[in-house]
Amino acid sequence: MDSKAKTANISSFQHEERVFPPAAEFSATAHIKSMAQYRKLYRQSVTDPETFWAGQAERELVWTKPWKKVLQWKVPSAKWFVGGKLNVSANCLDRHLASPTANQAAIIWEGEPAGAGIHGEQRTLTYRQLHREVCLFANVLKRHGLKKGDRVIIYLPMVPEAAIAMLACTRIGVVHSVVFGGFSAQSVADRIADCQARMVITSDGGFRRGTVVQLKKNVDDALALKDAHGELLAKTIEKVVILRRANNDIRVVEGRDIWWHREVEQVSADCPAEPMDSEAPLFILYTSGSTGKPKGILHTTGGYLLTAKLTTKYVFDLRPTDVYWCTADVGWVTGHSYVVYGPLANGATSFMYEGAPNHPEPDRFWRIVAQYGVTILYTAPTAIRAFMKWGEQWPKKHDLSSLRLLGTVGEPINPEAWMWYHEVIGGKRCPIVDTWWQTETGGIMITPLPGATPTKPGTATLPFFGIVPEVVDDQGRPVPRLSGGKLVIRQPWPGMLRGIWGDMDRYQATYWNEVKGSYFTGDGCRQDKDGYFWIVGRIDDVLNVAGHRIGTAEVESALVSHHEVAEAAVVGRPDELKGQALVAFVTVKTGVVADQKLREALRQQVAREIGPVAKPDDIRFAESLPKTRSGKIMRRLLKQVAAGTEIKGDTTTLEDFSVLARLGSSEE
Ligand code: PRX
Repeated sequence: MDSKAKTANISSFQHEERVFPPAAEFSATAHIKSMAQYRKLYRQSVTDPETFWAGQAERELVWTKPWKKVLQWKVPSAKWFVGGKLNVSANCLDRHLASPTANQAAIIWEGEPAGAGIHGEQRTLTYRQLHREVCLFANVLKRHGLKKGDRVIIYLPMVPEAAIAMLACTRIGVVHSVVFGGFSAQSVADRIADCQARMVITSDGGFRRGTVVQLKKNVDDALALKDAHGELLAKTIEKVVILRRANNDIRVVEGRDIWWHREVEQVSADCPAEPMDSEAPLFILYTSGSTGKPKGILHTTGGYLLTAKLTTKYVFDLRPTDVYWCTADVGWVTGHSYVVYGPLANGATSFMYEGAPNHPEPDRFWRIVAQYGVTILYTAPTAIRAFMKWGEQWPKKHDLSSLRLLGTVGEPINPEAWMWYHEVIGGKRCPIVDTWWQTETGGIMITPLPGATPTKPGTATLPFFGIVPEVVDDQGRPVPRLSGGKLVIRQPWPGMLRGIWGDMDRYQATYWNEVKGSYFTGDGCRQDKDGYFWIVGRIDDVLNVAGHRIGTAEVESALVSHHEVAEAAVVGRPDELKGQALVAFVTVKTGVVADQKLREALRQQVAREIGPVAKPDDIRFAESLPKTRSGKIMRRLLKQVAAGTEIKGDTTTLEDFSVLARLGSSEE
């Protein structure tokens, strides 16, 4: 990695470093009230992790059979609470039924469609009602022969049924893999093929910015796709469950497709929760890496749930009176841990919203906050930057005084956006928790604790209990404070991934070979004088576009699959709104005219292969791509060209230097 460049990048923040101590009135009632208390607990958690985690697992979760061993660890394989049994849906639902929480709202939901100034549809499900829905749907899964260990794809909009389907799977030990609605038919088919799923749960559509997302049609297309040998890609699917959501005209395939509402009428609401091994697979979530197709990140039962529950409780300082809103889609890991599992395991009220933040107008989020009295808001820096652009007048129209805590996740937050969030949304009174973590980590890893940690705009601050991050050089040695390096995690933690589905070699190679004995995050980082961690961003070939993780290799392969393309290289360039924008350098085959029409066709090609989220922002045609003598594409150089910065460094190894002069831009 180019650590020098990365360090230079962050040192520009330095002069803006301001410290915001936690407000006394917040600390007074917080779970963790001071730095001294945090430090003491943190020390215990890392010096004797097994005692710490055993205590937490006993206190926080309901087990049907106690574990024999807290941790069995041999790099890279961790087993937590070995021999213990529990059920995730029982921990999220049944355990609350014997208390007043039973009649509290578990999920409050609002759909996107909104008529003249009135909010769209609303639904509230108490814990008791959610329990019933989950039991019914789990019985539907059983009725169609699904059993422990089988895989199911969930491809739904942000509706309560997404959470119901997830919890129903966990109730009977079925492994879910949620696919974000913005992914294409091809992506759905690839995921089905990779995890050999038996069922898809989808809907006749979902609302997004006033239009209907054609989820069912994408599933139909996915199930018809063939591989290079002419074989059906997704041939393991036996049933497709369709939720009625958009009253959309869809195709129903006799014998294969079944309606959610009809199915639940035919089963009982009695469905005992299946005791599951602590290490039983819970879910697979696909995420992009630096090479090849997305990897199926595998999480298991006991350790994941403990991480989700504990981080939600302490990082958001949750209490029963909160209306907690995490704006992430359930298709991403944030939606798993902080819309569904973390809040429900804590008996909290989780708010869900189906649609876009600017539909019908840019104040939709603020209307929701005011109307439902949202107390905790957890969103992405990209969203905050978009709100900044739309202007203060939109939040100012609403009473946001119910908010008491704000959070961010997914990408580094620039200090300007942090300050705007603090002042305009938080009214200068709400602590901000900038939380760093990954699909692989299962839960939040580096974060302030709102009653204890003094915050600084732009840093995720300090590690959560039991987490041992370190910044190291290429040899894996710790670097001094203020120097840039690679971020690694030195000790296993309960929520860590257990592998890549079906590819344990890739698991070892991706995460454990870079720095021996440690988990490699793929992120660059620097610690400041107070030991705070400043995440710089990915140092591998993964881009973070608007908080979405996109592998450059995937986009390149989508581009070269177009018959007129010879070669493609994709890099990121800094973008004010999205953090990073995607720039593709493309060479075309002889005789092909590289024009605007082809550019649009290529963008569509990427949307078809991966999904609209991965469409390049800029496609530049070149006669050839700059390569080293050994034929490697010089990405560093392309990044500089993409960013429009002066070309630095040694370019004498370029195969064809003159190519630089001819790299045309789509913005010309
Ligand atoms: O680069 C880091 C960035 O997002 C990556 C993880 O992406 P994903 O697996 O999609 O999970 C996103 C939600 C947890 C990380 O490797 N990232 C995440 N949170 C932050 C962040 N970068 C800086 N600050 C953060 N708070």
